[in-house]
Amino acid sequence: MENKKNNTKLYVSSFLVFMFILSLIVGWLIGTNMSSDTSKERLVLTKEYKKIKDLNYSYNNKKGKLLYTQLCSKCHQSDGQGTMQFPPLKEAKILSNKNNLLLKIIVRGFRGKISRHQKSFNSDMPSFKKIPSVDLTHIVNYIRNNFSTQNLVEIQPVEITNTKVDSLAQPGPIMAKELNP
Ligand code: HEC
Repeated sequence: MENKKNNTKLYVSSFLVFMFILSLIVGWLIGTNMSSDTSKERLVLTKEYKKIKDLNYSYNNKKGKLLYTQLCSKCHQSDGQGTMQFPPLKEAKILSNKNNLLLKIIVRGFRGKISRHQKSFNSDMPSFKKIPSVDLTHIVNYIRNNFSTQNLVEIQPVEITNTKVDSLAQPGPIMAKELNP
């Protein structure tokens, strides 16, 4: 009887020790994976940044429209009016934000509760960090040109790559409370 109890104790404690070591290994794997991934991406982007620094980019509305249609219009709609679940981009204040928040939202994604035009929204927007800077530039200029009422200056791919490199230092989506457009 006593022996059986001791055996059970032994099993339980070796199981606990095993689980503890397993969680350490898994935690370490996740940690190294995430950090190495981000720094690799930062390196690639910094190289890309140097390459396109002097690139002669010119905005192409057709290309912007195509990219917006493929990547964004499913949620924000082709006219930018949004739906009950997804906020409108048409006349959104964020389009003229001077702190690159528009880019950061696209690169990092977006989460949290926001109110726009008397409606509230609280879903997750995915991140688009894998899209090449030149294509992101077309999208950003397309929505600034077509959905804002103001005459906004053209963004250059260099600014986008810079913001992408910055954004990668902080993984995870932009949170609604970081935003005050
Ligand atoms: C799967 C759906 C989905 C896709 C695809 C998507 N978004 Fe979003 N987007 C959202 C959601 C949801 C929010 C609001 C998040 C919240 O409620 O906090 C949002 C918010 C935004 C905002 C902030 C609007 C504001 O008024 O603050 C911008 C700008 C934006 N998206 C741009 C884009 C662009 C550009 C693309 C394409 C590259 C895109 N989104 C693709 C779902 C999406």
